[in-house]
Amino acid sequence: MPHLPDIDAVRAQFPSLAREMVLLENAGGSQVPWYVADAIRDHLLNDYVQLGAGYPASDRATATVERAHRFMDRFVNGEGLGRVILGSSCTSLMHVLAHSISRTIQPGDEIVVCEQGHEANIGCWLELERYGAVIRWWRVSPETGSLDLEDLRSVLSERTRIVAFPHVSNLLGEIVDVKAVATMVHAAGGRVVVDGVAYAPHRAIDVRDWNVDFYAWSTYKVYGPHMGGLFARHDAIAELQGPNHFFIPEDEIPYKFELGGVSHEGCAGLCALPRLLAFLANDQSVAAADAETCDFEVVQQAFATMAAMEAPVQKRLLERLGAHDSVRIVGPVSDDIRVRVSTVSMVHASIDPRRIVEIACSAGFGIRHGHMYAHRLCTQMHIETDPGVVRISPVHYNTVSEIDRLCDVLEETLSK
Ligand SMILES: Cc1ncc(COP(=O)(O)O)c(C=O)c1O
Repeated sequence: MPHLPDIDAVRAQFPSLAREMVLLENAGGSQVPWYVADAIRDHLLNDYVQLGAGYPASDRATATVERAHRFMDRFVNGEGLGRVILGSSCTSLMHVLAHSISRTIQPGDEIVVCEQGHEANIGCWLELERYGAVIRWWRVSPETGSLDLEDLRSVLSERTRIVAFPHVSNLLGEIVDVKAVATMVHAAGGRVVVDGVAYAPHRAIDVRDWNVDFYAWSTYKVYGPHMGGLFARHDAIAELQGPNHFFIPEDEIPYKFELGGVSHEGCAGLCALPRLLAFLANDQSVAAADAETCDFEVVQQAFATMAAMEAPVQKRLLERLGAHDSVRIVGPVSDDIRVRVSTVSMVHASIDPRRIVEIACSAGFGIRHGHMYAHRLCTQMHIETDPGVVRISPVHYNTVSEIDRLCDVLEETLSK
């Protein structure tokens, strides 16, 4: 068990948590520590100029963008193995990747897409049918929404090029065994594209251990600025042509895949994240933590702390919701942190999700309902996409007391 920091000290890193509203909608986007916000502000006020021009502010801006990339490589344990491409969102990066892969498609190549996924990792792959690709579906169980590796095996063939799937469904919260999937897909000769958006706020990404080819996440759900990251292994990206301008060399990775460059101020914000990680990892040199020295061990320790902080919160949430006969948890009922993350969805036998959210919101709790862009998953599970499910998604800075207060507010409604 990692040393757990004082919850008030953790929350003090995030000034926005001091407001009245209790934010339990972190699967939609997390809050940022004050030093991330300060770093973005400082960049905008001091170094907001073009890269590579040669004057001091430009040199500093260039160094910030390069530092952010190197730190992101280390953040996912990918240093030396590949590069992280940055972009405006996971969705846009998936489109860039699918577009680049479309140029290499031969008629009859097979692309496996996963019904459990967020549309960001589905729609862009379906487009490849236009280039002669054959789409195969890795289906979910209609009852549980879960995936079965044997179902994947049955859709793999020697023509499989890509298997695109989520590490965690943003609706179910269930953790998929990425390493096992990658091993199976590689044995068939394909490559994996993993959507890690719903996993990344809760656990450390380890692209080296899992041996993944492509792995995407949203930095704005991991306590950072509104950007996305896509790790690409050197050998996997070398097969592709990046979409950036013709005069940018093919081997200028990640820039060849960063159309028009990246958010410079966002990079400044990313460079400030090590301070949070060092704090959560109980690293003594917290104030001095920086993007150049923050290594993967600190990242792992920080996320071990976050998982340990989330464990009692998700346990209480599942217990309180599960105490109502009319409530169905959409996803695993288990509170085991090896099985799920703290993103919990539910439906009620008779009360409309809109009503449940309305009651919560008017009492000062930020939760939401909907299909959460896992439209196909909802349809397959016979859940109406509108109003969809009610989703409650705490992270490490939320507390058992917040869960209790929300569940007290909903008690009468849910017990109907
Ligand atoms: C699981 C999952 N994948 C992908 C996305 C899309 O991420 P972005 O907003 O960075 O495009 C989301 C956003 O909610 C998500 O939850």
